Amino acid sequence: MRFDVLTLFPELFHSYLQQSLLKLAIEKKLVDVRLWNIRDWSTDKHKSVDDTPYGGGPGMLMACPPVYGCVEAAQADGTEPGRLIMLTPQGRKLDQSLVRELSTYRRLLLLCGRYEGFDERINQGLEPLEVSAGDFICNGGEVPAMMIIDTVIRLVPGVLGDETSSKYDSFGESGLLEYPQYTRPREFRGMTVPDVLLSGNHAVIAEWRHQQSIERTRRKRGDLMNE
Ligand SMILES: C[S@@+](CC[C@H](N)C(=O)[O-])C[C@H]1O[C@@H](n2cnc3c(N)ncnc32)[C@H](O)[C@@H]1O
Repeated sequence: MRFDVLTLFPELFHSYLQQSLLKLAIEKKLVDVRLWNIRDWSTDKHKSVDDTPYGGGPGMLMACPPVYGCVEAAQADGTEPGRLIMLTPQGRKLDQSLVRELSTYRRLLLLCGRYEGFDERINQGLEPLEVSAGDFICNGGEVPAMMIIDTVIRLVPGVLGDETSSKYDSFGESGLLEYPQYTRPREFRGMTVPDVLLSGNHAVIAEWRHQQSIERTRRKRGDLMNE
């Protein structure tokens, strides 16, 4: 799967691309991430990419010419244009069901805003899918874009060592939160591992985990039980 990140700060991704799971996925050629600097498509001698809003108001907006130039160059690079995603707090909120949808594409272009956001004609003319990381304002679209890459690659076949692990994650196939997990030591500061997990009886363990998932989803995220 290919991701193209269109940003004013490509260097923010350099260390991120070196982290364990993503680094391995790139090395195994399961995932490809290309970085595009929108400033390279600036059309003036000052290399500017933003301008003041018509009608007044605070801050600056990302202007059409460099953004269109960068998006069109990225789309033309490769055998398919891919799906353009605009990172914006006004978009559809990222959740596991949207992550699953995004993982069905072979190529995603992630357009990251800065300043006060984008000239509206970028939306109007390029018709991106608008995606939000949540109901809060980040300084830029880069961290939300990393969230998309981070969540989507987990569903790319071969990226996770154990293919079943994303199935049992919270919000996985059951739609429930994951059951409680324990590792060695068996006792820590007076807290013990539930006996059932030491029983070796896989059917009983599976049933216990399922009941725990239901109970903790009801307790922590009752909203998920009603969906
Ligand atoms: C400071 S924000 C601009 C917010 C804009 N003035 C508004 O109220 O909708 C700058 C950029 O950060 C990104 N951004 C901020 N919050 C985001 C979020 N919750 N999800 C996705 N992108 C976000 C967007 O790309 C946005 O254009």
